[in-house]
Amino acid sequence: MGSGGREHAFALAISQSPNCSHLYIAPGNAGTAQCGTNVSLNLSDFQAVGQFCMQHNIELVVPGNEDPLVAGITDALEAFAAEKGIRMAVAGPDQWASQLEGSKQFAKEFMMKYGVPTAAYRNFNAENVDESGAFLESLIPPYVLKADGLAAGKGVIITSDLDEAKETLRDMILGARFGAASANVVVEEFLQGIEISVFVVSDGIDWHILGSAKDYKRIGEGDQGPNTGGMGAISPVPFADEIFMHKVKERIVLPSLEGLRAEGHPYRGFLFLGLMNDHGDPKVIEYNVRMGDPETEAIFPRLKTDMVDLLNGVAQGNISQVPFEVDSRTAATVFLVSAGYPGTIEKGFEMSMPSEVADSQRLYHAGTALKEGTVVTNGGRVLAVTSLGDTIPEALKASYDLVDLIQFQGKSYRRDIGQDLLT
Ligand code: AMP
Ligand code: GLY
Repeated sequence: MGSGGREHAFALAISQSPNCSHLYIAPGNAGTAQCGTNVSLNLSDFQAVGQFCMQHNIELVVPGNEDPLVAGITDALEAFAAEKGIRMAVAGPDQWASQLEGSKQFAKEFMMKYGVPTAAYRNFNAENVDESGAFLESLIPPYVLKADGLAAGKGVIITSDLDEAKETLRDMILGARFGAASANVVVEEFLQGIEISVFVVSDGIDWHILGSAKDYKRIGEGDQGPNTGGMGAISPVPFADEIFMHKVKERIVLPSLEGLRAEGHPYRGFLFLGLMNDHGDPKVIEYNVRMGDPETEAIFPRLKTDMVDLLNGVAQGNISQVPFEVDSRTAATVFLVSAGYPGTIEKGFEMSMPSEVADSQRLYHAGTALKEGTVVTNGGRVLAVTSLGDTIPEALKASYDLVDLIQFQGKSYRRDIGQDLLT
């Protein structure tokens, strides 16, 4: 389910498995069309999704982004399957566990309860908003304000200006700046350090670390300019060494998964830990209940495990029986975007690109479509180019060489992906 580079990465890996007889992608893009059948479905109508699955004997559903998970697709489709007596599973957490991403306040309370390291915080809403000014005055700037609910990645505001923080907080709550999503706002301590993401796959009991990754969110080189959906990624991240990853497992992965089990909601799916490396100590900035984009495009090429076996294992609770292996090489992903992105863009430009790439490379489609048999641009983030290499510079060189072979009007990209990790 989905239409981005992450979903093409899932689709490609699934289609390469001998255990997949047919793959449908809803809605997909020009890349996923080469992996299976793109279909148009209302993904928020779970009954319709269930009916479609029943008609086409679909046994496994893989949600790409958070919206259907937070809206409860896993519970809904499993109930549908039980009612109809059909075999159908969802590789994703249930609605309760998906609140880890759906509500910042829920995630904070969960972390407090299970001792997962995170920034100190306080929650505000219409009832206690008058106390927020004094609370903000007691903090060391910058101030971090987070809309409780889903806000398409835009619900976090960070400012060093106390008056602006006070006004913004009131506007989020009383002015509904992010609609119902900001009726509750988490105000938290600012964490210093370098951000890193760690990806975990779990079947409720057993789990594996898929890898670490760093993404590059700003449009401009040197991390300048507005935020985007992601301009590139590197996996693994050099500073996420054995000592750091040991801390991530002991302090974050284990208590999180054990906490979910203790609450009666064992976690089946992909868990994305957004972390701050605070002088060698990992702290959770956020949980996401899905894979990241563009991190998936860097992590999946390193995964040697059969994707269908892994997804079935997640849904059925037996990943321990699935051989798990990750390539030790580094993956470098560079995103090609349309001119003007993340602002206004034009679509529909014809694209030219190699029809085949080396075994160590991937060309993932994101904002692409087929128009009379030709691939055309269809969004801001167009293509993700990934290469594996023995070192970050080798992986980057291979990706940038491939970038040069791709043409479309307005093609732009960052030339500095991964440079910060080399020094
Ligand atoms: P989130 O949606 O929670 O990931 O927040 C969006 C971005 O805001 C993160 O990727 C960080 O760059 C930044 N951020 C969020 N919380 C904090 C924090 N407590 N300290 C520093 N930066 C933060
Ligand atoms: N790369 C950040 C995300 O997928 O949310």
